[in-house]
Amino acid sequence: MATPRPSVEAALRVAREFDYPSTQVQRGVDEFLREMSKGLSKTGSTLSQIPTYVNSVPNGTEKGLYLAVDLGGTNFRVCSIELRGDSTFNLTQSKVPIPRDLMVSASYKQLFQFLAKQIEIFLELHHNDHFEATVRRRRLTGTTDQYRQAEIFDLGFTFSFPVHQTSINRGTLIRWTKGFDIPDAVGKDVCLMLQNAIDELRLPVRVAALVNDTVGTLMARSYTSPGKTETLIGAIFGTGTNGAYVEKLKKVTKMATSDGPAPDDSGNMVINTEWGSFDNHLNVLPNTIFDQQLDADSVNPGIQMFEKRVSGMFLGEILRRTILSLVKDPEAKLLQEDGVSIPQSSPLYSLWGIDTSFLSIIEADTSSDLSLTKNALRNHFEVNNASTDDALAIKTIGHAIAKRAARLSAVALSAIILDTKKIDTDETIDVGVDGSLVEFYPKFVEYIREAMREIKEIGEKEKKIRIGIAKDGSGVGAALIALVAHKGNVTGRQQ
Ligand code: BGC
Repeated sequence: MATPRPSVEAALRVAREFDYPSTQVQRGVDEFLREMSKGLSKTGSTLSQIPTYVNSVPNGTEKGLYLAVDLGGTNFRVCSIELRGDSTFNLTQSKVPIPRDLMVSASYKQLFQFLAKQIEIFLELHHNDHFEATVRRRRLTGTTDQYRQAEIFDLGFTFSFPVHQTSINRGTLIRWTKGFDIPDAVGKDVCLMLQNAIDELRLPVRVAALVNDTVGTLMARSYTSPGKTETLIGAIFGTGTNGAYVEKLKKVTKMATSDGPAPDDSGNMVINTEWGSFDNHLNVLPNTIFDQQLDADSVNPGIQMFEKRVSGMFLGEILRRTILSLVKDPEAKLLQEDGVSIPQSSPLYSLWGIDTSFLSIIEADTSSDLSLTKNALRNHFEVNNASTDDALAIKTIGHAIAKRAARLSAVALSAIILDTKKIDTDETIDVGVDGSLVEFYPKFVEYIREAMREIKEIGEKEKKIRIGIAKDGSGVGAALIALVAHKGNVTGRQQ
């Protein structure tokens, strides 16, 4: 008779709580479709469906040199991008971590001053000729205007938080997500906050376009994607999650009422869904005790409920809570055998102590004694002498949490694909994705595809959907939108 393995059995029980069967996936899709359409016609949907004032996607022939900056997670990135006009580009970048005290703070000023400073450092380092010449000329002429027109760098600002956009380079912050909390920035114009900080340093830079990272991903994928197919969706599955897609303008009926007269509605507009907040009311989302506890301890309880079940910032934290519940359960015996030690200083005991990269590492561990998982437990969490059963138990739960995330991701992608009716045409449906989960979590995209096939309106037609990584959306994509803004190929009141 096999020896009972309490930790593994307890883990299987917990893992089952994360099952998200076909019927639930289908219910999720139906609800997502309803919310999408509500969000296009009025406010109050859990899907904000934000018009981005970007009307076309690139085809690879675009050219020029642009600056782009990216604020949206733990790092701030500054890049310059040379679009070569043949679907290729050259990118120079620098990346710095954002100091924690600027992410959660009483005033936005220090954060934006920090961002402007990084732009200055980047220009000095990588575009020194241009930078020095501009500053010299400016001193000679003494006028800001002349210098502004002649020597200016157009900058695409990738700002990956929900923004109520009113034009290609104007938009007010709706709320912070992903652990940021700076109350006095809410309701303020994001581009102006950055432009003011840039102007304080007298840099030759104009904030030309405001870009969500999903929109950047959509643009970057369309610029670089193989063949003539235009990309339909850009999506991020990283620290946060969200998607943007190309919608028919005539369906965006709320633009006619909220922001003045409706623009010519014969074309398309990229819509930022802000699906991280899908189903905040929990009509259809799964809701384990671990999800509930995580939400209660977050900086924004009741908000971003979809994101809290899908994205990288949260999956590690869900796993941490399940592990602790079994460590405390005397019957489960997880990490309780003789010789196992977990010091009080272990990140297992700190909120957000598990990074999603840990889930990717243990999922990829195919060794017979799960040595990679044991090493990761030691190196990341100071857990010594974990048994193979302990490792298997943790791997089992991690897998279930990530698989549920992938199946939820399929809900969002599938609903958009169905909404646009592209599934019933002969066209390939191109989806550009980016973020740590799709890049590093083994089989994340395969699990998405598996769930897509279970949706009755998709089934075998899943083969028509092409999902490809679009790297550097927040750099190249932002540059492409700065270019679009520059050419005036946008709808609305461009400033
Ligand atoms: C933000 C989105 C963003 C996504 C991915 C979410 O938390 O609300 O605007 O696109 O993260 O970075």
